[in-house]
Amino acid sequence: MGDSNSNSPPGSPKENPDQDADKKPIAKDDSTLETIVRRIQDSISIGKKHKFWESQPVGQFKDIGDASLAEGPIEPPTLLSEVKQEPYNLPSQYEWTTCDIDLEETCTEVYNLLTNNYVEDDENMFRFNYSKEFLRWALRPPGYYRSWHIGVRAKGSKKLVAFITGVPARIRVRDEVVKMAEVNFLCVHKKLRSKRLAPVLIKEVTRRVHLENIWQAAYTAGVVLPTPITTCQYWHRSLNPKKLIDVGFSRLGARMTMSRTIKLYKLPDSPATPGFRKMELRDVPAVTRLLRDYLSQFIVAPDFDENDVEHWLLPAENVVDSFLVESQENHEITDFCSFYTLPSSILGNQNYSTLKAAYSFYNIATKTPLLQLMNDALIVAKQKDFDVFNALDVMQNQSFLKELKFGPGDGQLHYYLYNYRIRNGIAPSELGLVLL
Ligand SMILES: CC(C)(COP(=O)(O)OP(=O)(O)OC[C@H]1O[C@@H](n2cnc3c(N)ncnc32)[C@H](O)[C@@H]1OP(=O)(O)O)[C@@H](O)C(=O)NCCC(=O)NCCS
Repeated sequence: MGDSNSNSPPGSPKENPDQDADKKPIAKDDSTLETIVRRIQDSISIGKKHKFWESQPVGQFKDIGDASLAEGPIEPPTLLSEVKQEPYNLPSQYEWTTCDIDLEETCTEVYNLLTNNYVEDDENMFRFNYSKEFLRWALRPPGYYRSWHIGVRAKGSKKLVAFITGVPARIRVRDEVVKMAEVNFLCVHKKLRSKRLAPVLIKEVTRRVHLENIWQAAYTAGVVLPTPITTCQYWHRSLNPKKLIDVGFSRLGARMTMSRTIKLYKLPDSPATPGFRKMELRDVPAVTRLLRDYLSQFIVAPDFDENDVEHWLLPAENVVDSFLVESQENHEITDFCSFYTLPSSILGNQNYSTLKAAYSFYNIATKTPLLQLMNDALIVAKQKDFDVFNALDVMQNQSFLKELKFGPGDGQLHYYLYNYRIRNGIAPSELGLVLL
């Protein structure tokens, strides 16, 4: 586990929480063999040469703990006329393509590349299966640039063999709001791995971001690179334990039967909180206020305006779900929760082909206890037939994970900033940003 080529999460829980029905799940302690192995692997990775990343304006391992380095941009912007005007060179058999995700045919090509070649868990049992609707949502936020949806094709066959994307975002670091690119969906076809194509893709997206006069980026990866601003862990809450066990996502706990496990994870049929309902277009201003106020407490968080909230949080079928609590007395919006839909393909199982996973997005509790709000989120996710509800230990999530019977997964997710130094790194609980 650890430094495999995974971006964490299709990832299965290492162990089920202790499943004695009358006990709370016990968190995996820090001394498990896997944790120790991962620590060692991570430290090897820190000692490892990163020929590409060492040449980039990112925090370097050798600078960890150096208090003399100022926070903020590592390199100043250059004049736009000094940005390289032509694309980087590819090996001669390949060519650049800008992917117009509005075209059904192109969207299908991207979908197929990712479905067959994107992130897998460490044991290669699951692979992310982002839907086409999801990709169109993820890649077309307000102010997006089509030039940042970058593909590589084989010159002969025109087959799409690699991909990388950026979308614009305003991200606040302490009291500075910085225009950034959120870089995602880096993928090289399995047959073209280890040929140093990834650095070319990263340099090309960086060049096209620079051409828009943007000089910073945020990204996540399952691998350790120079240098994470924080390292988060995925937690998983079983909604359909029988299927999760049948497909090898989780294991039956010691001293547990299937029927006791099913009982342990059983949820009420409908949400408990009075006034809990789906978010609508008319709620955008109130949700924006709630969210902006909430996110202001975190060291790194997006700076969302109403357009962003309408795009990222208004419910979209099979893409993103958002619920809120409207006060029965004064109709004020007091609480909010959301999750996005990201299935994984189940590789090589006779009975099942897809794991339906919900991923916790942004949650805000001002009147309803967060625990109760998230329990209602689990209930609606179960109603919508999700098999599992995943959450990172970011923001205030730690406060409900164990209580609501989430178990720690083996997926670690490292967060990075490009060309922006944060002096000491931050804790997951100080991070208010969820990338897709
Ligand atoms: C990630 C992926 C594109 C890397 O391609 P590759 O063929 O394995 O690696 P290449 O030989 O092209 O490049 C290696 C360089 O890319 C870097 N790299 C690898 N994965 C990376 C990632 N996820 N993000 C940023 N850089 C990455 C390596 O660290 C190395 O640079 P270094 O020498 O400075 O350490 C490829 O493995 C892949 O498509 N994997 C499945 C999807 C995936 O994991 N995507 C990333 C999601 S964050």
